[in-house]
Amino acid sequence: MTARERITIDVGAYQGVDLAPDLWGLFIEDLNDALDGGLNAERVRNGDFEFSAADRAGWGPLTAWSADDPDRVEVRTDAPIHPNNAHYIRVAGPAALANEGWDGVGATAGQEFLLSFFARAEDGSVATLTAAIGTGGGDLARAQVAVPRGGWRRCEARLAAVADGRGELRIEVPPGLTVDLDHVSLRPAGPDGRPLTFRPDLLQALKDLRPSFIRFPGGCVAHGNGLDNMYHWKTTIGPRHERAQIPNLWGYHQSRQIGYLEYFELCQATGATPLPVVAAGVCCQNTPGGPRAIDDADMDDYIQDVLDLVEFANGPATTRWGARRAELGHPEPFGLRYLGVGNEDEITDDFRDRYARIEDAVRARHPGICVIGTAGPQPFGPDFEAGWAFARARGTAMVDEHGYRNPRWFHQNVDRYGGYAPGPQVYVGEYAARSSTVRSALAEAAYMIGLERHPGVVRLASYAPLLARTGHTQWVPDLIYFTATEVLTSASYHVQRMFSGERGTRLHPVTLGGVEPEPVALPESGSALLRSPGAAIDYTGITLDGRPLPAAGTGPEGEAVELGGIDPAAATLEFTAIRRDGGEGFVVRLGEKAPGSFLDVQIGAWRNKSTCVVRGDDGITDEDHGPLPWHGVRTGVPVRVTVRLEGARVRVWVDGELRHDFEQDLRPEHRVVAGAASRTGSGGAPEYVVRVVNAHDVARVASVTLPEAPGRPATAVVTTLAGAGPDDGAPFAGSPVTPAVTTIAGQGGGVELDLPPWSFVTAVVTAI
Ligand code: AHR
Repeated sequence: MTARERITIDVGAYQGVDLAPDLWGLFIEDLNDALDGGLNAERVRNGDFEFSAADRAGWGPLTAWSADDPDRVEVRTDAPIHPNNAHYIRVAGPAALANEGWDGVGATAGQEFLLSFFARAEDGSVATLTAAIGTGGGDLARAQVAVPRGGWRRCEARLAAVADGRGELRIEVPPGLTVDLDHVSLRPAGPDGRPLTFRPDLLQALKDLRPSFIRFPGGCVAHGNGLDNMYHWKTTIGPRHERAQIPNLWGYHQSRQIGYLEYFELCQATGATPLPVVAAGVCCQNTPGGPRAIDDADMDDYIQDVLDLVEFANGPATTRWGARRAELGHPEPFGLRYLGVGNEDEITDDFRDRYARIEDAVRARHPGICVIGTAGPQPFGPDFEAGWAFARARGTAMVDEHGYRNPRWFHQNVDRYGGYAPGPQVYVGEYAARSSTVRSALAEAAYMIGLERHPGVVRLASYAPLLARTGHTQWVPDLIYFTATEVLTSASYHVQRMFSGERGTRLHPVTLGGVEPEPVALPESGSALLRSPGAAIDYTGITLDGRPLPAAGTGPEGEAVELGGIDPAAATLEFTAIRRDGGEGFVVRLGEKAPGSFLDVQIGAWRNKSTCVVRGDDGITDEDHGPLPWHGVRTGVPVRVTVRLEGARVRVWVDGELRHDFEQDLRPEHRVVAGAASRTGSGGAPEYVVRVVNAHDVARVASVTLPEAPGRPATAVVTTLAGAGPDDGAPFAGSPVTPAVTTIAGQGGGVELDLPPWSFVTAVVTAI
């Protein structure tokens, strides 16, 4: 056995500080087909024929549908089932229609489905359609559906699968019948025979996380791409075929079949309290042309909608919106305690004005609700500072901070919240260490120990994004990947589950001995390299550390040019770039090639709208400075760039303007981190929940001592996440590590915990 380094974890006495009871929750946004095609159990894609080019170029009412004879299918809008569901199809039999679902429509032998649709056929007697779940090899399930003649009628049938397979939903219209069809739905039946709302395996994966709260509907979806795309809760409740369907800003369609009522039902099913996020009266800051605010004249109505949401969730059935909830089958309130207002907004005057009016109204009408403000997309920077200053000035109860950073940042910031001044508390509403590897999962675990340690500051936290359908993603990494048939949980998922599954209630101080934080160095020595994925660029007037270099060019196919070696502590590069072709900018890389450490100076970063300095470590990148808005690289217009590295200082001039001037963050990383809390066990004695991260190649053993009478032996139930290398783990695959549970007995005081390389341990320790 290789030598293990010994560390000590002395758990101190409880000092009267309790953990944040709702700390661990979930973030749900319809992104990556998380809802339609994911948590929504619906199997028919575009069953309302409402997809359009506004969702995605090339999409329309017949997206996901096909017909054996397309001439027999007509898209119509006259006299629809509801104005919100304007399109339907008229099918003149004989014709067979097929819906491809999401990557096919699947069934397993014995599974029962409920098929329903609205149909309108000409006057006369009852007509019959045939519905089948079919594969190339035959039908998995088949049923006849009666269509009463007359106006729009809801038609239903049960389909029982006789075999496993994936195919399509087929609807056959017999000769001589012309029928209008809309809101076609196929849902698996639940144990009570009723159609399921949520896909069961995904629901179980969420339940297993034992969330204290669930945030919804975003993220960016909450405030939308333009005012028309803002999420208005009232348009998402009631009969599904009457809900307002809108484009999803992630480039697809929102049926809102999982609307606000289903969201509250999900909270109930998982034991979570709701944490809805409403727009702060301003649409997303990334909307082309910039954020826009709801008109002054419409603000009172908008504020009333926000107040009504709280009443819908919590009001007695004697109130208007409480009565609506009861009418929808929920006489009991949903216990909403938190309300987010805004998401990563740019802190403009419009934002300040609209936010203040909403917060004031909620405070006055629902004083028990904790309103959560917003502080930009990054855990630092101009909107972060302005958002916090605004929240402090207003006495906002809590602020939503977001941090998508690399593992280094997480390890450097384990004690970030130890330094917070009294004032608003913190909801770490979105965070992830930017990869699906063990390295990232352990960095998150170290950070989460830090979040647990500061309950006076941090009250809530949710990893983001939560769900992603393989082959349909706009954002990675995600906590849970899924296909039509599988749920693939990441290493980060196991970390989340280990935190939420074993929680203490009383915080204990911990003294960690035998290990020091790891120093962080400048990027490794390497070279200066130019590249321009997405553009053809010519470079002239190049000098590296004063040495003139020949002109060079880079191309959109990844053709890069290496200029020569650099010292990362003292280097100066200058050049003029002219774009010949393409729509993007270019990148200067300084340092080692990935996965080594390097700095990328991005001129025309993020869709050619900004400049940014990014650092990469172990193959994972992070913005060190920026992105700063910029007009972008223009074809034929020269851009003069100077980059100077001087120790930790980085400066970048673009056309003579000093755009980036900052010191690299070289604070040490906390790679070995421990935390402890206690709770009262079933026999009345304290149980200590001790957590340790060992994000390192070195195996360790930790001697844990408890604040009990010295020398008392102890036992522990130990859950260990370990067994893979730091770079194992990838999106769209299951975790390379799964938790293993063992029981150990201590000799003398406390217990000894085994800490394999790259591991996370949660031990429930009891003195005996
Ligand atoms: O989680 C994905 C996105 O990240 C969210 O929609 C947004 O709030 C953040 O920028």
